[in-house]
Amino acid sequence: MQILANADLRPFHTFSISQRCAYLVEVQSSDEIKTVYQEPKWQDLPKLMLGKGSNMLFTEAYQGVVMVNKLLGKSVTESDHYWHLHIAGGEDWPNLVKWSVEQGYYGLENLALIPGCAGSAPIQNIGAYGVELKDVCEYVDVLCLETFASRRLSPEECQFGYRDSIFKRELFDKVIIVAIGLKLSKQWQANIEYGPLQSLDRETLTAHDVFERVCQIRIEKLPDPNKIGNAGSFFKNPVISQTQFDALHAQFPTLPAYPAQNGVKLAAGWLIDQCQLKGAQIGGAQVHPNQALVLVNQSNATADDVINLAAKVCREVFSKFHVKLEHEVRFMGSHGETNLQTILDSQS
Ligand code: FAD
Ligand code: EPU
Repeated sequence: MQILANADLRPFHTFSISQRCAYLVEVQSSDEIKTVYQEPKWQDLPKLMLGKGSNMLFTEAYQGVVMVNKLLGKSVTESDHYWHLHIAGGEDWPNLVKWSVEQGYYGLENLALIPGCAGSAPIQNIGAYGVELKDVCEYVDVLCLETFASRRLSPEECQFGYRDSIFKRELFDKVIIVAIGLKLSKQWQANIEYGPLQSLDRETLTAHDVFERVCQIRIEKLPDPNKIGNAGSFFKNPVISQTQFDALHAQFPTLPAYPAQNGVKLAAGWLIDQCQLKGAQIGGAQVHPNQALVLVNQSNATADDVINLAAKVCREVFSKFHVKLEHEVRFMGSHGETNLQTILDSQS
């Protein structure tokens, strides 16, 4: 296990912002994770499991041990009607989707090109183009950090929701996801209800076509983190009550909205766009000129630039629509997770 002291996290997260951590180690097995937690000199230090860092903003230097997920391996078994994929947590998600489509294990194609590790996918129940991880998840294997026992959670136990799961709440900081199980039907059914996929021809359609189309849309719509630092949608799409929606809709008839579990989901990108914030910049951080929901590291942004820009976006959207935006991106402070509101409160 290689240990780097005072490491720069810049190559380890997609915002590409320089930020130090006390120690950085790559972990390849559950035993190595256990070793990190049991190392006497690290007993009092906070610890963080990192996948590809594609949903992270390090707001300060991290005064703890960052573990980079390198748990690798995948295997496939079959039953009468399903392919069952067992995937180690450190496997790259976009490569997994591409590989599964090439092998003829269909069902992941709508989730193509979402950056990150397989083991991170259940945390916010990754979703795109009408499919969420919960639709294909058979189980999630975790290592409990109190006992170091392994446990298998069913999808019901994971309590998946929109960009949400038990791993953000009751099990936050209590478990590490070491593997996931995916269950893919041998009877493939296309999922092309989501707007830009509706133009595909259902009669001749294959999973490869859906995969290609999703990749094409994403490449057109979303900035590539290899070229310009970003963490995807910076904010979640807000869910508001039907009553609040009716009032807003009367005022803004073109407001895009979708039915949600507890109300109506609005398109945060549209709200931000309507505030004329596309291209808005603070320091090196910018609201992407083509996709308002994505904040980018336009030119050597600092974490403070991103924080100040995010605060401006929230303020202006609230002032125009009375809708509160919540960030999807996870904020990591010096000793653990934090959030925009806590940072702003500490500054006032
Ligand atoms: P990281 O960013 O490394 O970690 C995220 C959080 O999970 C951290 O709190 C971390 O501590 C925790 N964590 C990571 N691994 C583990 C583990 N094994 N056990 C316990 N905790 C862990 N998301 C979508 O849902 N849909 C999209 O369409 C989408 N598009 C994106 C497009 C771009 C260009 C980018 C940059 C991001 C996009 N995202 C999208 C967000 C991101 O891809 C997902 O959140 C992804 O699952 C993050 O994976 P990661 O490995 O990078 O996690
Ligand atoms: N819109 C604008 N202006 C913008 C951006 C969007 O008006 O600048 C409008 C669009 O015209 C459309 C609506 O907002 O009417 C929704 O846009 P889009 O379909 O592009 O989806 P999104 O809400 O921006 C969500 C997810 C993405 C996911 C896509 C596809 C969230 C927070 N974001 O984006 O996930 O890939 O749908 O399913 O739910 C992520 O989570 O990081 C992410 C990229």
